[in-house]
Amino acid sequence: MNLSELQLAGRGLLKLADLNEAQVLGLVDLAIELKRRKKAGEHLQNPLLLGKNICLVFQKSSTRTRCATVVAVRDEGGSAEYLGLQDIHFGKKESVADSARVLGRMFDGILFRGFQHSIVEDLAKYAGVPVWNGLTDDWHPTQILADLQTIKEHFGKLKGLTLAFVGDGRNNVCNSLMVGCAMVGINMVNICPPELAPREEVLALALSHAHRNGSSLTVCHDPQRGVQGANVVYTDVWASMGEESLFRQRLELLKPYQVDMQMMKNTGNLDNDQVIFLHCLPAFHDHNTEITESCGALEVSDQVFEAPFSKVFDEAENRMHTIKAMILASLT
Ligand code: CP
Ligand code: NVA
Repeated sequence: MNLSELQLAGRGLLKLADLNEAQVLGLVDLAIELKRRKKAGEHLQNPLLLGKNICLVFQKSSTRTRCATVVAVRDEGGSAEYLGLQDIHFGKKESVADSARVLGRMFDGILFRGFQHSIVEDLAKYAGVPVWNGLTDDWHPTQILADLQTIKEHFGKLKGLTLAFVGDGRNNVCNSLMVGCAMVGINMVNICPPELAPREEVLALALSHAHRNGSSLTVCHDPQRGVQGANVVYTDVWASMGEESLFRQRLELLKPYQVDMQMMKNTGNLDNDQVIFLHCLPAFHDHNTEITESCGALEVSDQVFEAPFSKVFDEAENRMHTIKAMILASLT
């Protein structure tokens, strides 16, 4: 494991496009190695973050990103402090710039989750230590590193595969997937209603990477036809955090876009085991949440979510290995 080859020492990660292709692929391979190392218990012999203090500044709730970061840092002998919206003055009684300068004097790195992307940019500008984006309204880069790890572990490769994203074609996860797939040569189809098509500038950014890497990126509004040939069918919630007031409207718009068994069959890859299902989670796949107790499954049917080809919990675990890879690359 040669961390210096990644050339990320002292740097954070705000969006995937801040990296080059080799760095994205290198972080994925590093995460695969760190997963093996943890399962072998080798991290206990040689922890790599001894004496390092990380803080998590979160304006939105989280299960995976928060826990993945805390466990990743503790695995390597470091310490992680969670600072929720109610815990600190951040952006309320104190400007982002001032909080950033204070946190940067005490911590070795900051993982942020919140609303406008400009907040994490300001944090990075003033903190003087690496800042990592654990989700903003626009981007979710660490999620996509875990997705790529999961795809590589399953298929043994990335380049040349086809991923179909079905749902809100302009949310943070879809934006990052478009750029991430294009950077590693995965063909991507963004299947969404016209009202939720990707923003021009995000599409142009992703297309520039796709052209360089010989992969395709298309936008399609037909959910059944669009998935033909897909090796990965991916979806996310229909209303992201901060968009709660749009929930009913999204339900109507995205109803035809639910990932169900018929859609998985339409890939043409189900019978030959050449397709998996991914979801960043949390997922509305049954009645067992406060939001779905009356309506049931939304973006994915329970049958697909629970099927053997669904790799969503491998994907969730890989959040820990990829976030660890990113923090180690920045701090060692
Ligand atoms: N996928 C993801 O970011 O999950 P959390 O919101 O639980 O962190
Ligand atoms: N698009 C979702 C992702 C959650 C991990 C959201 O922002 O709420």
